This record gives sequence, structure tokens and C-alpha cells, in this order.
Amino acid sequence: MALLGTLLCCLLAAWHGRPSLGLPLAPAGRGSPPAAVGQFWHVTDLHLDPTYHITEDHTKVCASSKGANASNPGPFGDVLCDSPYHLILSAFDFIKNSGQEASFMIWTGDSPPHVPVHELSTDTVIDVIANMTATIQSLFPNLQVFPALGNHDYWPQDQLPVVTSKVYNAVANLWKPWLDEEAVCTLREGGFYSQKVSTNLNLRIISLNTNLYYGPDLVTLNMTDPANQLKWLENTLNISQQNKEKVYIIAHVPVGYLPFSRSITAMREYYNEKLIEIFRKYSNIIAGQFYGHTHRDSIMVLLDKKGSPVSSLFVAPAVTPGRNVLEKLTNNPGVRLFQYEPRDYKLLDMLQYFLNLTDANRRGESNWKLEYKLTQIYNVEDLQPKSLYGLAKQFTVIDSKQFMKYYNYFFVSYDSSVLCVGRCKALQICAIMNLDYISYTDCLKQYYRKHSL
Ligand SMILES: *[C@@H]1O[C@H](CO)[C@@H](O)[C@H](O)[C@H]1NC(C)=O
Ligand SMILES: *[C@@H]1O[C@H](CO)[C@@H](O)[C@H](O)[C@H]1NC(C)=O
Ligand SMILES: *[C@@H]1O[C@H](CO)[C@@H](O)[C@H](O)[C@H]1NC(C)=O
Ligand SMILES: *[C@@H]1O[C@H](CO)[C@@H](O)[C@H](O)[C@H]1NC(C)=O
Ligand SMILES: *[C@@H]1O[C@H](CO)[C@@H](O)[C@H](O)[C@H]1NC(C)=O
Ligand SMILES: [Zn+2]
Ligand SMILES: [Zn+2]
Repeated sequence: MALLGTLLCCLLAAWHGRPSLGLPLAPAGRGSPPAAVGQFWHVTDLHLDPTYHITEDHTKVCASSKGANASNPGPFGDVLCDSPYHLILSAFDFIKNSGQEASFMIWTGDSPPHVPVHELSTDTVIDVIANMTATIQSLFPNLQVFPALGNHDYWPQDQLPVVTSKVYNAVANLWKPWLDEEAVCTLREGGFYSQKVSTNLNLRIISLNTNLYYGPDLVTLNMTDPANQLKWLENTLNISQQNKEKVYIIAHVPVGYLPFSRSITAMREYYNEKLIEIFRKYSNIIAGQFYGHTHRDSIMVLLDKKGSPVSSLFVAPAVTPGRNVLEKLTNNPGVRLFQYEPRDYKLLDMLQYFLNLTDANRRGESNWKLEYKLTQIYNVEDLQPKSLYGLAKQFTVIDSKQFMKYYNYFFVSYDSSVLCVGRCKALQICAIMNLDYISYTDCLKQYYRKHSL
């Protein structure tokens, strides 16, 4: 019954037509030449810690250090803390003043801090998401933003439900200025939506609620299709195909295997296999996939069953530099800009920007800058599956300089002395090129044998 209600509400919204965005989203003025490349920003894992403040007692700097001493706290944060508001503002200020023209922004979730469950509540989680939304809207009143929910954008964290909830309802209202009626409707019901880009009418963003597939979500244990999202996804892709649209998939928890642990998928294996199947089937219209959640910078290339590369996937590093007290490494804060071919939305390049946290804190001012331009530092032609696959093949060579760069960027240049060889490298390599169980398992076995690991 609930499902029927959902579909009905969302279908009705669709029938009423798509109201235009109540914003002056006009592209370049009449007479100006069409842009040579299209651009969009990707920001993720802001993890605001509203308690962050500089104080003598370093155990009291931020709630997200969970009682540990902050290591070297400064105005832009600390590696044992989630983001101070000042850091998040500096990231968006940089984007605003970068001089780069973008037609939209994607924002893949996780706004609240990493603190024990009892220190948050449904209302505080909504407050943080509302604060981030208002911050973005005030700095970018004319930019269309496509958000996706993260596993921390709920209370209790990770327990995202398969029916409407206070949080889904709140974000549906908060994100209304960016979305049409049908998108707001499915967002309210299940935390996911699809929506055309106002300035690029043949491009559809599909924002998935992959948190429903995340291991710690107890609500969806043993469900074959939580919130009927898989069915909705197939249907949406099918219609997009018929309408000759291209699609960018955005979501928080990525598909595929975690590149820093052995044989662990980011989401439950069953859902991973299902999504891979769908993404292979529709790879001809999926022009790119964009994720967050791991807080690290990584790429993946989806191969079809015959081993040909068919889809490019990008996991963006976090804005928060915070790490767990037991971890040795973390990431510098990062945001990124994608470039695409405006006729067919093919991905051309990616510019990764970062803040050197140590340096910014030392100088007391933020100096966001370009970390790398993907095609330039790896000398590849573009971001097409074939190009990324060729690059990944270069990574496999022993002592590959290309892979050393990749591993430094994995942590957003946090520590250029880090090395990844042997098993560490096997896990990275196999995760880049093998997103399903059979090929991943086979890759590890072969790699271990070949390198006697
Ligand atoms: C967001 O929260 C910060 C402090 O954590 C506050 O300074 C700022 O004014 C808030 N912004 C909005 C738009 O609510
Ligand atoms: C924090 O640092 C202070 C001063 O160095 C030390 O006395 C205290 O034991 C530390 N606390 C923790 C939890 O490590
Ligand atoms: C889920 O399925 C597994 C295996 O079939 C079973 O052991 C477990 O009890 C089930 N859990 C729930 C919550 O239904
Ligand atoms: C899309 O849906 C139509 C109508 O239901 C169906 O005939 C077609 O096979 C579907 N396309 C794909 C690729 O599954
Ligand atoms: C970051 O800044 C520190 C301190 O100024 C410097 O030692 C380090 O080399 C910088 N790292 C990068 C990647 O620029
Ligand atoms: Zn996160
Ligand atoms: Zn997450």
C-alpha cells in the first residue's frame, strides 16, 4: 500500500508537468558563443563539527576527536577533528572566486560530524544539513546543485529508512529550489531522485540513496530491493535511453571494492552485484559516475563481461580532514571540477583542488590551489573508460611512477613519502578495474601469484 501511495504521489507530480526552477538560471547571454567545455563542481563529505574551537585543552577542541587530544589545531581544522565552519566556508569561497564558470554542482552527502550517536538527534542532523544548504544557497544563488544523501545524513547514523521520514521530508523541503516536483516527491519518499540539468537539457542526474545498501543499515537487512530503488533506477534509465538522454549517476556510498582493505565492498555484496549489472546494461547512456564516502581520491573503471571498459567512476576526497585516532594517514581537504563535452556530456578532464591544511593553519589564511589536472599529470587523452583503463594498466607495472602519483593523490597530498607496494598495491589495482565479485577475486589471485605475495 505504501509503495502504491508513493508511486501515485510521484506520478501525479510528474503529470502536473515540470515547473521551471524559480531561479534565474539562464545560461550565457544571447549572442555569446557556446562554451567550448562544460564544467561542474563536485564537493563531498563536509562533516561540519559545530563544536570546533581553539582552546588550551586539546581534548576539548572538537567533539569529533571523541576525547583524544587534537594534534595541531588551527583556524582551518585539525586532522583529528571534523571540519570547522571556517574550513567549509573557505572551500566554497574558493569555488566562488576561482574564476571557473560551472553550470552546476554535485554534492554527495555526509554533513554531520563523526560523534557518538547519543550526541546527535534527528533535529541536530537536520540543522546541520540545513546550515550547509543555506551556506551553499547564499554563496551560489544562481547555481543548480544536485545533492545526494550520505550515511551520516540521518539519525541514528546509517539507519536510512525505506519509507518517508522526518529527514527525507526535511531535505525534500530544503532542496526544493534546485529540484522539480517529481524529484522532490521521490526524495521525500525514499531519499533518491532523478532530475534534468536546467542548463543542459539532455543531461539527467540520477541521485541514488546507496546508504540503503550500506552494511550497517539494519533497516534493509535481507531486503531484495529497499524502497524499490533498483526497480525505479532501471525504469528511469530505460526512459532516459528512449529519450536519448545522457546520465550522470551520483551517490554517496560507491559501488565496487574498498581500495584499502581486502575483499570488502563499500556496500553489501548483493546490492553491489545488482547495481553493476544495471550499470553495465545502460553503460551506453551513463556518461559518468560520481561518489564520496571513503574520503579518499580514487578512480574505478567498470568493464563489461568480456573485459572491455564501459564506464568511468570517480570517488572524490572529503572536505573534512578528520581521521580516526587509530589511523595513521588522512586526506587534505579537497574539492574538484569536472570538464565535459557540452554536446554529449563525455567527460574530458578533472581538476582536483586542495588545501594544504598544515600550511593554511600555519599562515592563518587559506590557500586553496590546484593539486592536479588529471589528463596532464597522467598524460592521458580524456576521462573516457578506455583512457582510464589504459592508465590503470600502466599502474600495474612494478615501480610505476604513475601509480606513485596516484597513491600520493589518494590522500590528497597529505604525505608524499607514503609508498604502496606488494599487497597494498594489489588491493588498489584490483579495486580500480574489478567491481564485481568474480573478477575482483580472480584479479587478486592472479596478482598475488604473479608477484609471489
Ligand atoms: C552555520 O553554522 C555556523 C556555526 O557552526 C554559523 O556560524 C553559521 O552562521 C551557520 N550558518 C547558517 C546559514 O545557518
Ligand atoms: C592530552 O594532552 C595532555 C597534555 O599533553 C595530557 O596530559 C593528556 O593525558 C592527554 N589526553 C589524552 C586523552 O591523550
Ligand atoms: C537475514 O538472512 C539471514 C540468512 O538467510 C538470516 O540468518 C538472518 O536471520 C536474516 N535476518 C533478518 C533480520 O531477517
Ligand atoms: C525498456 O522498457 C521497454 C518497455 O517496457 C522494454 O520493451 C525494453 O526492453 C526495455 N529496455 C531495456 C534495455 O531493458
Ligand atoms: C604543505 O605545507 C607544508 C608546510 O608548509 C609543507 O612542508 C608541505 O610540503 C606542503 N605540502 C604540499 C603537498 O604542498
Ligand atoms: Zn563521510
Ligand atoms: Zn559516508
